[in-house]
Amino acid sequence: MPRNDTLTLRDNALWCDGVPLEAIANAAGTPVYVYSARRIQTNVARLQAAFAPLNADIHYSLKANANLAIVRLLAGLGLGMDAVSGGEIARALRAGVAPKDIVFAGVGKAPDELAYALDQGIGWINVESRAELELLDRLAAARGVCPRVALRLNPGISAQTHRHIATGHFGAKFGIAPDIVADILAHQDATPHVEIAGLHVHIGSQLGSVAETIRAVREAQALAQPYPALRTLNIGGGFPVAYTDDEHYPAPDEFATALAPVLDRWQVKLEPGRSIIADAGVLLASVLYVKQQGGARFVIVDASMTELIRPALYEAVHPIAPLHAAEAIGPAVVAGPVCESADILHRGAPLPELAPGDRLAILVAGAYGMVMASNYNQRPRPPEVLVEGAAWRVVRRRETWDDLMRLEDPSG
Ligand code: LLP
Repeated sequence: MPRNDTLTLRDNALWCDGVPLEAIANAAGTPVYVYSARRIQTNVARLQAAFAPLNADIHYSLKANANLAIVRLLAGLGLGMDAVSGGEIARALRAGVAPKDIVFAGVGKAPDELAYALDQGIGWINVESRAELELLDRLAAARGVCPRVALRLNPGISAQTHRHIATGHFGAKFGIAPDIVADILAHQDATPHVEIAGLHVHIGSQLGSVAETIRAVREAQALAQPYPALRTLNIGGGFPVAYTDDEHYPAPDEFATALAPVLDRWQVKLEPGRSIIADAGVLLASVLYVKQQGGARFVIVDASMTELIRPALYEAVHPIAPLHAAEAIGPAVVAGPVCESADILHRGAPLPELAPGDRLAILVAGAYGMVMASNYNQRPRPPEVLVEGAAWRVVRRRETWDDLMRLEDPSG
């Protein structure tokens, strides 16, 4: 069940671009994340083309997948970066991204992270509270700098998405309420060491419709209207990705077409993550055991919620395909080895007869997969592989048991 022209079947074997996935599984072992450089390039080109009429600056949201090879690839395609921690800024800088091309967002930036951003000359800081603005003002004064700031508005709008990834309603911790944004803008002389040059509004991820984004943009514009110096509007990320064949979402150009008339005369920034990397990645696993239990076929594999937590955390559905295509014999519950009932990767994947050693690909796993991986149950995190045409290379090696103990006192 290939899902795009990156994943294809050749003689019943699943390939990623010019490489049979079985070859990667054999050489790198499983579990392993595999990313297609070509698919990443296609996704970026699609976003760039959609938003070219708006002349938008695209900042890739590092939180989706921050592997250095991917960050370098994306920087080479002309993208800036959206970082939400000192660690993400450090990664972007290590990958060669210019500080001015980085926006620093996040609801809880620690003082040392803000100081680091100022010392590095990060291009924009998306501020999420009055107290953060005041702290930033003091840190800037002490350094004799004047950072550019976008105030993140919480517009009080519920995005059509999973409740865990909606951010624009008043019950969410994100952003600044409209009346406080208005008050901060009216008293900008209270923070003379920051330059408030824009607003930021991101109402959620995996957005099901364009309408709420338009409403959020209009809210932001109404607040900014009295202040001609506010010329930049960062509308965040959130462009949705279809995980299964049953899902249908607006494409990036539908967002762009709807936003174009509204954003006329604004310098637009975007922070897409998922739409760039999700369908460029798969997680490969090997079958360990198959057993019948409670009327279900359980397929126990060597990947788990520690590699991909999305099914357990959000009830996300990632299709699963065998690396060797064969007729499905019925649904299977695909589960990992972790000692948690929630460690289920799929609750009803249509799969063929399977035996230990058979390989499976968990699809659309490039975004929020490896970055959310953990060492729970002392499981080393998997390697990451980048496929470039007919070539592939390991861009992060598999962790070892020694890696898991490296930061602790060896004498116990
Ligand atoms: N900008 C801001 C301020 C954000 O909070 C996010 C995502 C993005 C941009 C990127 O959004 P994207 O284009 O990727 O939708 N772990 C969850 C997703 C969390 C999203 C957090 N913020 C998942 O696996 O679905």
